[in-house]
Amino acid sequence: MLPQPALLMLVLVTSALASPPHIIFIVADDMGWNDVSFHGSDQIPTPNIDALGYNGVILNSHYVQPLCSPTRAALMTGLYPIHTGMQGYPMLAAEPRGLPLRKILPQYLKDLGYVTRAVGKWHLGFYRKEFTPTYRGFDSHLGYWTGSISYYDHIVQDIYPDGNILSGHDFRRNMDTAWNLEGQYATEVFTEEALRIIEQHDTGKPLFLYLSHLAVHAGNTGKLLEAPQEIINTFRHIKEPNRRTYAAMVSQMDESVGRVVEALHNRRMLNNSIIVFISDNGAPSVGVFQNWGSNYPLRGIKATLWEGGVRGVALIWSPLLRQPSRVSDELMHVSDWLPTLYSAAGGDITKLDSNLDGVDQWSSLVYDEKSPRRQVLVNIDEREKTAALIIGDWKLVVGTFGNNGSLDGYYGNSGNSASNPRYNTSSVINSRAWKSIASTRRPVTQADVNKLRQAATVSCSKETFVTQTNCNPSITNTPCLFNIHEDPCEQNNLSGSSTDIVTAMYNILVRHRQSLIPQLNRPWDISGADPARFNSTWSSWLD
Ligand SMILES: *[C@@H]1O[C@H](CO)[C@@H](O)[C@H](O)[C@H]1NC(C)=O
Ligand SMILES: *[C@@H]1O[C@H](CO)[C@@H](O)[C@H](O)[C@H]1NC(C)=O
Ligand SMILES: *[C@@H]1O[C@H](CO)[C@@H](O)[C@H](O)[C@H]1NC(C)=O
Ligand SMILES: *[C@@H]1O[C@H](CO)[C@@H](O)[C@H](O)[C@H]1NC(C)=O
Ligand SMILES: *[C@@H]1O[C@H](CO)[C@@H](O)[C@H](O)[C@H]1NC(C)=O
Repeated sequence: MLPQPALLMLVLVTSALASPPHIIFIVADDMGWNDVSFHGSDQIPTPNIDALGYNGVILNSHYVQPLCSPTRAALMTGLYPIHTGMQGYPMLAAEPRGLPLRKILPQYLKDLGYVTRAVGKWHLGFYRKEFTPTYRGFDSHLGYWTGSISYYDHIVQDIYPDGNILSGHDFRRNMDTAWNLEGQYATEVFTEEALRIIEQHDTGKPLFLYLSHLAVHAGNTGKLLEAPQEIINTFRHIKEPNRRTYAAMVSQMDESVGRVVEALHNRRMLNNSIIVFISDNGAPSVGVFQNWGSNYPLRGIKATLWEGGVRGVALIWSPLLRQPSRVSDELMHVSDWLPTLYSAAGGDITKLDSNLDGVDQWSSLVYDEKSPRRQVLVNIDEREKTAALIIGDWKLVVGTFGNNGSLDGYYGNSGNSASNPRYNTSSVINSRAWKSIASTRRPVTQADVNKLRQAATVSCSKETFVTQTNCNPSITNTPCLFNIHEDPCEQNNLSGSSTDIVTAMYNILVRHRQSLIPQLNRPWDISGADPARFNSTWSSWLD
């Protein structure tokens, strides 16, 4: 429904006078589709995240890149990673590389008067200090520069394919090593920092808080998953011990979301805030950095171009949304946040780089309009020889990550078990997040919660979920075509019956290929980057 002209005028006038909204952008690392309870699983309750979703917009066709650095590169630049050379493998710690030095999201928001804060993971380069957060538009940063650390000791132990192992501490407050925080659980440290930022914020200015969690990424070999034991003990209904620890990690992050929302409420910032929660890619249910997350019932995992790798958990909540409490299946890509948030902040998007791949989704989010985006280039990886493209309901997939088919199936826990506690809508309604947001606007009813949850759950067309498919790119290297609206689990390759669509989409991929900047990945500088040279810390070694 579009607003009446008079009402529209009023909205325009008031929004022109209102100060720009605070923007709280929360990123979960490697969290699977099936690991938020608003997607239908009873196994790991996420009452605070769910509360935001039910009272905001659940973004159920939000696409990300299959890996960490590429998603973060797209978020920060508004570009597909093929346009920054970031489309390939994420940076290992000793790789002298960073996101190319161009203007990025916090710098754009600073132009609009924002105070910009980064908390948590960076993973966009640090070999020279110019690539680190406080040199790229963030007023402050507490967190780590590499891809992942252990949750308590904050050490990264990087194992290189040639057998070298480099190990060092990676936890900084701005440019200084934060030795005083050693031994403290990362999710807790980041939450405390976010609360401190909110408590001390000068509310006369808009805040951009980029809260980029370590959770629920795996740590180092030998202690992949870590969480406080008393929280792990609350998940006795989960038999698999790693999955049980993972559930505790998810639960700690959900608690963090609730505390952040409550802090915004306490500072009276909440009614002029936008809160976004996304996962950077699907869960690595198996393989490297296995975290026992689940993308069920979607196919594939992190690193792959299947829906399990790239259709990410996402939602937006804000009192500025005029048509909230709905599940959106409109196409969105992580590169859209730059123009969308810039627009929400009152910026003139015609002043942004005209070559952006991201599109401004603000009015479609606010008024429940059609998405201006018709297609998503999921990725082209010219080294792996993989690519995927989505146009409307169609998805074309070319090649397979790793080439032997080992990640092309269905993995992870379905979340269905008789021992799960039943989904408790009262605990959602009693969560910190729900209680806080209820102060800004009347929340949805319990009946609506159940309807929204049902609507947000992906189930596959076949009555019993079967994990069979007629698309096996490790056997025949031909493209597969899926109707992901009818077949979100990518079981039914239609390329034989829709050859014209395959040809048209393939040609579009070929055109995208022409604008690709080759991957910037570089050989590891083992001796140069070695933390042993810098008091056991990962440092900008080429300064
Ligand atoms: C938010 O709520 C506070 C306290 O009730 C009020 O002073 C302020 O004007 C409100 N702001 C907006 C944008 O509604
Ligand atoms: C496929 O390749 C991966 C990575 O190289 C390897 O770990 C795995 O064992 C292989 N799987 C099969 C079925 O060959
Ligand atoms: C559901 O949550 C509410 C509020 O947190 C709690 O009081 C109640 O005991 C829970 N119900 C069950 C069956 O666990
Ligand atoms: C997709 O389906 C077509 C038509 O049945 C088939 O020829 C092709 O081999 C399939 N692709 C893959 C990768 O299995
Ligand atoms: C070197 O590391 C130790 C901790 O291992 C720390 O206490 C000390 O302050 C560091 N020295 C410098 C100069 O940073």
